[in-house]
Amino acid sequence: MANSNRQWLINGRPRGRPLQDDDFKWVETPVREPGEGEVLVRTLYLSFDPAQKGWMENIGGYVAPTEIGEVMRGSGVGEVVASGAPGLAVGDKVTGMLGWQAYATLPARDLNKVADDELLTANLGVLGTTGMTAFFGLNKIGKPFAGDTLVITGAAGATGSVVGQIGKIAGCRVIGVAGGEAKRRWLVDELGFDGAVDYKAGDVRAQVAELAPGGIDVLWDNVGGPIFNDLLSQIALHARVVVCGGISRYELGDMPAGPENYFNLIFKRARMEGFIVLDYMAEYPWARARMAQWIRQGRLRYKEDVQHGLENAPRTLGRLFQGENFGKQLLKVV
Ligand SMILES: NC(=O)c1ccc[n+]([C@@H]2O[C@H](COP(=O)([O-])OP(=O)(O)OC[C@H]3O[C@@H](n4cnc5c(N)ncnc54)[C@H](OP(=O)(O)O)[C@@H]3O)[C@@H](O)[C@H]2O)c1
Repeated sequence: MANSNRQWLINGRPRGRPLQDDDFKWVETPVREPGEGEVLVRTLYLSFDPAQKGWMENIGGYVAPTEIGEVMRGSGVGEVVASGAPGLAVGDKVTGMLGWQAYATLPARDLNKVADDELLTANLGVLGTTGMTAFFGLNKIGKPFAGDTLVITGAAGATGSVVGQIGKIAGCRVIGVAGGEAKRRWLVDELGFDGAVDYKAGDVRAQVAELAPGGIDVLWDNVGGPIFNDLLSQIALHARVVVCGGISRYELGDMPAGPENYFNLIFKRARMEGFIVLDYMAEYPWARARMAQWIRQGRLRYKEDVQHGLENAPRTLGRLFQGENFGKQLLKVV
């Protein structure tokens, strides 16, 4: 059994400002042997999610507050290297909140055993939280009908790219909004979106109006801010507006003011609703099985952006807020 662990601890509260180097502290500690009902897991890959910065800020209240000095929270996939629990054996692959550390000693009940196959890392993305967010957010809140126009912000990201593809499977006309020509082209050429606009290349409102002249039936927002406000002015009658995230707020001083165009919800008899994917956890297994089938049928594609080395974890989280990630942001630990 390994006897030395490497960990990143939370060392700052990046509220209303970008992440900085001293928000994290690197330590080396002894590995704790698993007790009864526990396993020792060697972390293979970590997943990076914008919400992790929010957890450090202690906003939202939907997860337990974080403490300065605790291991930075994060989900990952790992391999059991010692077991004190009957259901998990050495060599099994598991997912769970492993944290930013080389080894995690955790109760077996907090881990999910996964197949060690070609979809191993997909359990952190398209078959993990981001995929579940897309599946349940779209189906339960967006309620798409065949023929609807679905517009997605943050469309080339881990969540947005899956929302668009599920929208296509549901028979929608899908338009993505993303930063940069490479991401715009990927959405149309590789994922089969009907159109995509580069918000860095000009007026989002005008570009989307050209692609969605009949208005937006389902608006999926990952971004917030001016882009969301512009799109809210273009919703169609009885539109469903899915508020999934607001990544543009993360580096601002305060929580953003509401969008000026919210009155359009009245004129269009529209509905705007937020959600937290964790509320659908009991339903993940069937959604995961269906999405795995879509992947194997070639109907659902995904892209992973894999960085390397535990020491690069803070920098890797920062990539999300600069739009540097192209696909699901992962880090290969060893
Ligand atoms: N409600 C829930 O339960 C739930 C669950 C999971 C995720 N989420 C939310 O879903 C959203 C996407 O998360 P993800 O994990 O899939 O990340 P992601 O989309 O893979 O990565 C973040 C992307 O956001 C875009 N971005 C960053 N800063 C921006 C800004 N100021 N303006 C516009 N776009 C910006 C960048 O893409 P570009 O290069 O295109 O700018 C970046 O690549 C986040 O808001 C997250 O909090 C919500």
